[in-house]
Amino acid sequence: MRILVLNGPNLNLLGMREPEIYGRETYASLCERLTRVCEAAGVGVEFFQSNHEGVLVDRIQEARGHFDGIVINPAAYTHTSIALLDAVKAVGIPTVEVHISDPDTREPFRRISYIRAACIATVKGKGLSGYEEAIKILCRHLGK
Ligand code: DQA
Repeated sequence: MRILVLNGPNLNLLGMREPEIYGRETYASLCERLTRVCEAAGVGVEFFQSNHEGVLVDRIQEARGHFDGIVINPAAYTHTSIALLDAVKAVGIPTVEVHISDPDTREPFRRISYIRAACIATVKGKGLSGYEEAIKILCRHLGK
């Protein structure tokens, strides 16, 4: 079983970006943490981050036939991108939406999530641990 962890714009700046909201752990350290979790569970994992919507769409399309599940934090594209919604629907790979903060309790423009409609679950407001929870949800869903 293989999981693809996708992160959208500005998440490469984790650790220095609005630490009062997103914490002080870096993107590299998030990847290390999730690598350990997946190793322990006997699950393969790959990471990808991009600031560009079309590049994320490409990565989702390329995941077909290579990954059994996707964990995605689309960041700001959560609230704008029908293209990412359509990509997840198109490939049909079980996908869990993650947010470090809880966008539903922030500015009103963060309350819309387009991608949610294509996801089997959403984990939000749990900090970086939310990614671990998303992986566990996928493992359960995929019978691992
Ligand atoms: C975020 C929430 C989004 O509203 C925001 O644009 C992000 C990060 C989160 O992880 O809490 O960049 O997805």
